[in-house]
Amino acid sequence: MNILLAYATYSGGALHVAEIIQATLESMGHTVTLKNVHDIDASIFPDYQSVILGTNTWLENKEEGNMNGAYYKLKEQLSGTPFAGKKIALYGLGDSHQYNTSFCQSVDHLTRLVEEFGGTVASELRIDRFYFEKMNNTVRVKDWATSLSSIIG
Ligand SMILES: Cc1cc2nc3c(=O)[nH]c(=O)nc-3n(C[C@H](O)[C@H](O)[C@H](O)COP(=O)(O)O)c2cc1C
Repeated sequence: MNILLAYATYSGGALHVAEIIQATLESMGHTVTLKNVHDIDASIFPDYQSVILGTNTWLENKEEGNMNGAYYKLKEQLSGTPFAGKKIALYGLGDSHQYNTSFCQSVDHLTRLVEEFGGTVASELRIDRFYFEKMNNTVRVKDWATSLSSIIG
């Protein structure tokens, strides 16, 4: 199964997580196309039945707990139901210590984006303080990616 894995990041964590997901799924026999959300447009989605979208959580459009701005640029190009019938998984990075009330709310924004354009989210992962708890988080990400093999693979 060829899976599109698109990430958006400001300080690199969401890319790091994407690389763990990619390596895990590829070790299970899947093909994973890794893309920065800045480098994709709406025309990419028909090529993939399975899509993983990742984002950091940030202060964006004056709103705390938002998804990365690259998704708003992508959203401007979307129309119709590009996510309909696809297997979709989401992950977000956040920090529950510093942003307790908006922890990983980027995943809620991404969920709304997917649903607005016809999709349903099959699985999600919210990652807390990726770099501070790197070993534990790496295990969590690997476990989640392994579970994705049967959910969206
Ligand atoms: C300006 C700023 C705003 C942030 N806002 C939130 C937030 O609202 N909720 C949250 O859970 N984390 C928030 N974070 C924490 C980041 O999401 C977290 O550090 C994440 O790992 C960054 O991912 P990245 O390395 O892919 O950019 C914020 C960090 C910064 C610097």
